[in-house]
Amino acid sequence: RNDQDTGDRKQRQREAFRADDPAGGPLTTDQGVEVDHTDDSLTVGERGPTLMEDFHFREKLTHFDHERIPERVVHARGAGAYGYFEPYESCAEFTRAAFLQDPSVQTPVFVRFSTVAGPRGSADTVRDVRGFATKFYTSEGNYDLVGNDVPVFFIQDGIKFPDFVHAIKQEPHNEIPTGSSAHDTLWDFVSLQPETLHAIMWLMSDRGIPRSFRMMQGFGVHTFRFVNAEGRGTFVKFHWKPKLGVHSMVWDEAQECMGRDPDFHRRDLWNAIEAGEYPEYELGVQLVPEEDEFAFDFDLLDATKIIPEEQVPVRPIGRMVLDRNPENFFAETEQVAFHTGNVVPGIDFTNDPLLQARNFSYLDTQLIRLGGPNFSQLPVNRPVAPVRTDQRDGYHQSALHSGTNYFPNTLGGGCPAHAGVDGSAYTHYAERVDGAKIRRRSASFQDHHSQPAMFWNSMADWEKRHIVEAFRFELGKVDARTVRSRTVEELAKVDPELASQVAAGIGVPEPARDESVAHKLVSPALSLTSLRGGGS
Ligand code: HEM
Repeated sequence: RNDQDTGDRKQRQREAFRADDPAGGPLTTDQGVEVDHTDDSLTVGERGPTLMEDFHFREKLTHFDHERIPERVVHARGAGAYGYFEPYESCAEFTRAAFLQDPSVQTPVFVRFSTVAGPRGSADTVRDVRGFATKFYTSEGNYDLVGNDVPVFFIQDGIKFPDFVHAIKQEPHNEIPTGSSAHDTLWDFVSLQPETLHAIMWLMSDRGIPRSFRMMQGFGVHTFRFVNAEGRGTFVKFHWKPKLGVHSMVWDEAQECMGRDPDFHRRDLWNAIEAGEYPEYELGVQLVPEEDEFAFDFDLLDATKIIPEEQVPVRPIGRMVLDRNPENFFAETEQVAFHTGNVVPGIDFTNDPLLQARNFSYLDTQLIRLGGPNFSQLPVNRPVAPVRTDQRDGYHQSALHSGTNYFPNTLGGGCPAHAGVDGSAYTHYAERVDGAKIRRRSASFQDHHSQPAMFWNSMADWEKRHIVEAFRFELGKVDARTVRSRTVEELAKVDPELASQVAAGIGVPEPARDESVAHKLVSPALSLTSLRGGGS
């Protein structure tokens, strides 16, 4: 490891934050006053009332009373680790991002893996999408790649996100179920919103029950934009590939595991790192030149579509190794704040309406989850790049700012001397945009069945069998017969055989075969074999 240089900057910074509690010394209050007794409160006589003046008792109870903060509204359960990223070669041709230029420079990272639907205390091995969020502490500021372990999302526009999440979370009247996808509201939503089908196919496949966080792929999902030093943009999709290959559980195994060891995935991650078996992932990119924006029969701004790897191969650009467990779960894994809006020069957004919504939502939710606007000062969130802003005050301000706090100014003090300069400051990609205000997307956003069909056709027989069994298990738990039937009718538009096999297992009539169902992309040449990831 390149400890002297960049790779370990984050660790040195964390050490500076370590709580100042000298081991072996006497117990004190928060004010540093020594305490002789912490088992009995101060009372009047042996049997009298407890006295308000017992400041140690009050402080101890009050602090405890305030230990909990809101869990994340989604992805509440997770586990994290520190490590480093290093590029294989310079990516200067496509992006000016500093951390993607020099193979000898390691960038510290923190990664949090998570489930999506279950609360903080839910089991690890449920059938669910997994979050795969990476914070790169780069020399130009923090870059967050906030991805999932499947390459497509359930909805196309962030305005539907509250509806989608309300449908997948526990039901409002009884908070059942926890962390499982098997209930009426989810399938009601799916059957009414066929744009969910592609992600649902991935979820019902073995990808929905990964064996380990160390054996999962990660995807940025959206099309992002690389921008090079000349200002040229290139569309980019991000892929993480685990060195150990992609592996899944089988459903019976996953269910048994939920009972025997609900912490299975976080324990596996922790133990592997403690044992020196450091999880490793390769970062790859699919690159599409700006001029090819409309070269596909789907829209690059549609997060329910992949770019088939046969059309645009994944190019490996670097690797990430996770080699250090956090010291304190709450301080680090719970308080880490990822945000798609955290980008560095050379990485920019596209107009994907899901991504645009995320760029609003993460900061907004963290303002309440982490209690105000100063959470970027927390050790896990703090950049290793210098921070010079005029932002002041607010809850949990822990910086000792001095001097003036407005811009521009000539009186000096601690304020930034000048705005960033060309070449190093972030500049937004100068995309030309023109159009009327509408609530409508391009026509290909309406094609909800071609890519799910492509996914289905790319599966081996045993993988298809697992998918059918998963649909039967999940849909078989749905009480509303209309929801079961409507979902099967949607599956018939993906593949009639899939629909009839599912229907037979859940006691609903087989939908009429519609031979006119035609998919643009269903050709053997476009099978998804390469997307299966090595080793599965
Ligand atoms: C977490 C919103 C789509 C990946 C979250 C959180 C919110 C949120 C509010 C909790 C954050 C926190 O409390 O710190 C949204 C919205 C979406 C969306 C509004 C769509 C409009 C997605 C997509 C992905 C994704 C498409 C993957 C590509 C994640 C991950 C986390 C997360 C990995 C957990 C981050 C962590 O480990 O702390 N999301 N999300 N989300 N989201 Fe999304």
